[in-house]
Amino acid sequence: MRRLIIDTDPGVDDAFAIALACASPEVDLLAVTTVAGNIGIEHTTRNALNILALCGREDVPVAAGAHRPFSRPVRGDDAHGNDGLGGHAYAIPASTAVVDKRDAVTLLKDMLEASDEPVTIVAIGPLTNIALLLAAHPSVKAKIDRLVVMGGGIEGGNITPSAEFNVWVDPEAARRVLVEEDVPVTLVPVDITMRCAVGDPWLNELATTPVGRELVAMTPHYRAFYLEEVGRDDFVMHDAIAVAEAIEPGVLRTTQLRLEVDCTDGPGSGATIADRRKPASPGERVVDVALDADVEALTGTILSRLRGRSD
Ligand code: BDR
Ligand code: CA
Repeated sequence: MRRLIIDTDPGVDDAFAIALACASPEVDLLAVTTVAGNIGIEHTTRNALNILALCGREDVPVAAGAHRPFSRPVRGDDAHGNDGLGGHAYAIPASTAVVDKRDAVTLLKDMLEASDEPVTIVAIGPLTNIALLLAAHPSVKAKIDRLVVMGGGIEGGNITPSAEFNVWVDPEAARRVLVEEDVPVTLVPVDITMRCAVGDPWLNELATTPVGRELVAMTPHYRAFYLEEVGRDDFVMHDAIAVAEAIEPGVLRTTQLRLEVDCTDGPGSGATIADRRKPASPGERVVDVALDADVEALTGTILSRLRGRSD
């Protein structure tokens, strides 16, 4: 079993990602921690509880984390609507589970310390909680098998021409995780997630199952936003691609890159910059950046999983 913790800001594509983890029999989902990002922390936490309940996993502990980035104001994202789930949050039955009494960083620390096997953390929102965890409890790094991070854009961004949303929201936290720390990281940037977008036939097939129907009902507002902002009329499930890699390491093909994060306030704010001038020297910090995949096979597997098949 692959021990997994999801740090998330649901979020339409976060909902798909959580559902994918719940639908994967080889995953032992230890916890879900929430962060402010696509929408405020109250919504992301409530949405996380309700998505887990939708997937029949009310038993998974949920803890609320950072209310805001390190040193920046809260900046949301219209893509996910005013409830975080594309206006469909009201339609999902409310979970009867309650939020864990611990804050997200404490829950992450407790789970890692208690685990006798390494744990994969998949971070699919701004990196505030993860940076705080690594700063406050460095001893738990030994328990982290790998951090799979959805974020960044090597050839450009989505929220600005240069920056991807999760990194743009809290660049200082992202810099800590991607540049300063030494924990193994696989970065899943928009370069690959955009290529894994799916269209109506995929969504229509997913909508033939009860959970799938609810997930698909969250997508119209999000798709309309992407059409308006980046001219794409398909569904980009960024976060689910990162979870797919966390579940099956190597499903995305990675390149080792030295990274920097632009923490200034100019037009490059929140950009993820890869240094491709020469190979890294021994001992230099590199991140495995996912830049390629068998896209058709991958989106097919995600669909099968979400429809309740493990083939
Ligand atoms: C990321 O930003 C959010 O809008 C999505 O949930 C995803 O985590 C994509 O840039
Ligand atoms: Ca997200």
